[in-house]
Amino acid sequence: MKNNAAWLDNAVFYEIYPQSFNDSNGDGIGDFNGIIEKLDYIKELGCNALWINPCFESPFGDAGYDVSDYYSAAPRYGTNEDLKRLFAECHKRDMHILLDLVPGHTSVEHKWFKESMKAERNEFTDRYVWTDSIWEEPQGMGCIRGISERDGSCAVNFFSHQPALNYGFYKCDRPWQQPMDAEGPRATLEALKDIMRFWLNMGCDGFRVDMAGSLVKHDEDGKGTIMLWQNVREFLDREFPEAAMVSEWGEPDKSLQGGFHMDFLLHFGPSHYNDLFRCEEPFFCERGKGDVSEFVTKYLENYEKSERKGLICIPSGNHDMGRLSQTVHGDTLKIAFAFLLSMPGAPFIYYGDEIGMRYVEGLASVEGGYGRTGSRTPMQWDDTTNAGFSAAPREKLYIRQDDTPDRPTVKAQMNDESSLWHEINRLIKIRQSHKALQSKGEIKFVYAEKNAYPFAYLRSADDEKILVVLNPADRETSFDCGYTLTEKLYSFGGELTSENGRITVPPCTAAFYKVK
Ligand code: NOJ
Repeated sequence: MKNNAAWLDNAVFYEIYPQSFNDSNGDGIGDFNGIIEKLDYIKELGCNALWINPCFESPFGDAGYDVSDYYSAAPRYGTNEDLKRLFAECHKRDMHILLDLVPGHTSVEHKWFKESMKAERNEFTDRYVWTDSIWEEPQGMGCIRGISERDGSCAVNFFSHQPALNYGFYKCDRPWQQPMDAEGPRATLEALKDIMRFWLNMGCDGFRVDMAGSLVKHDEDGKGTIMLWQNVREFLDREFPEAAMVSEWGEPDKSLQGGFHMDFLLHFGPSHYNDLFRCEEPFFCERGKGDVSEFVTKYLENYEKSERKGLICIPSGNHDMGRLSQTVHGDTLKIAFAFLLSMPGAPFIYYGDEIGMRYVEGLASVEGGYGRTGSRTPMQWDDTTNAGFSAAPREKLYIRQDDTPDRPTVKAQMNDESSLWHEINRLIKIRQSHKALQSKGEIKFVYAEKNAYPFAYLRSADDEKILVVLNPADRETSFDCGYTLTEKLYSFGGELTSENGRITVPPCTAAFYKVK
C-alpha cells in the first residue's frame, strides 16, 4: 500500500447524518447546502474531516444504507453538483471528506436487482447471491423469496429488503455458490470500483466502508474478503493513491491487511467498547464502578496484531448506537472526550455529541432506525425555531426534535467557556499541537487495572512522551508511575500530585503531562 492519505495522521472526524444536520431549504430535512453552511462551524470546533452517511438515491428503508442508484445524490439532499461543491468547499478549508460506501447490498429497488430477478439470463443474473431454487434458502443469511420471476432465493445482508451483492464464496459447497474468481463476482467487484472511481473523480477523499468485512461469503477467517480489498487497494494505488479508506470491520489486523488505513472500534462484537460508555456501570461514570481492563486487553491484542500502528478509530457515538450523553453525564462527558481525543487512530465525533445532545426517547421508528431513531434527531443550533435546524413547520421535521426546554444548543455552549463544546475545542487543539497524541503516536498502558481507577497511558512520538491520566470517579485515586511529570499540557478537574513515584489524582479529573 502506498499510504498516501497522510492527512489521516492528524484527522479529527465529524460524522454527519445528513438528514438531521442542517436544512437550508426549509423542507424539514437536512441537505448538502446546509452542510456547506456549517463547514466553518465544524472547522472552528477543531474537526478537519467529515464522514457523511449514505447520501445516494434510495427508498430510505434503512436511512440510505439501501442504495438504489450509486451514481446519483438523493434529490432530497441536492444534486451531484451540490455534492461536488461540498467536496470543493471542504478542500478550500483544508478539510477532507469521506463518503459512505455500501458495497455489501443494495435496495430491492436498484435496477441491478430488478434485472437480477428476471427468469431470463442477463448481465445482472449473478450480481447477487441467489440459490437455484425458491425452496432452498442460503443458510444462515436470511433471504428474499417469492417476489421474483426467477426460481431462487436471494440472500440478504441486513434488513430483508437489502439483497446481498455477490462477491463469491471463499468455500463453495452448493452448486449455486460461486467462487470469487467466477465471472459474476468479478463483475460485481469491477462495478464497485467503478462507483468509487466516479466519486473520487468528483473530488471526495475516500470512503467509510459499510460492513467491509462481510463481502465474501463462507469466509470465516476473512481471507477472501482481505484478498478482495487488496484488489481494491491495488486499483486505488494505481488510479487514486491519495484515497483514504476506513472500514466498519472491527478487526483491524484483517482490515489493515486488506489495505484499509483505519478500522473502527465497534460497539458490538468483542471490543468491550461498551464497557467504557454504554453499559450499566460504564468506566466513564462518577460512580466509579466500571472496569476498563477488558477493553484494554482487547485493544492491545488488536494493537499488536496490527503492528502497533494504532489505527483503530474510536467514535464518540454514531447513528447506530445510543447517544453518549444517555449514560455519561455532566463533567464526566468532558473526561470521556479527554480519552477519545487522546487515543491513537482518528477520533470520530458524532454530530451533536460536542454539545451532549440527548437521546430522544419514545420516538416511532423513522427510515429503519428503530431504537437508533432517538440518536438521529435534528441538530440543535440555537434558540430560534426548531433550534435553527429548519424553517419548516415543526411537524414536518424529519424526526421529532428534542423539545425539552433545557436542550443543549451550539449557540449557548459556544457562549459559555465552561461548556462541553469548549472543552472539546481545547482538547482538539492540544491533540493537534502534539504528534504524540495524534493517530500514529504509540500507546503504552501504564495503569488499567481490573475494577480500578484511574486509567493512565503514555502516548509517544519521536522524543516526546505524554502521560494521560483519567479519573472519572468521584473519589481520589492514586497509582505508581515510573515517569516523572515535567510539564502540564492540560487538566480538567483537579491537579495531579506526585510523591516518590506515586501519583495522586483528585476526583473527576483528566490530565495530560509531558513526562520523562
Ligand atoms: C451499518 C450501518 O452503520 C447501519 O446504519 C446500517 O443499517 C447497516 N450497516 C446496514 O447497511
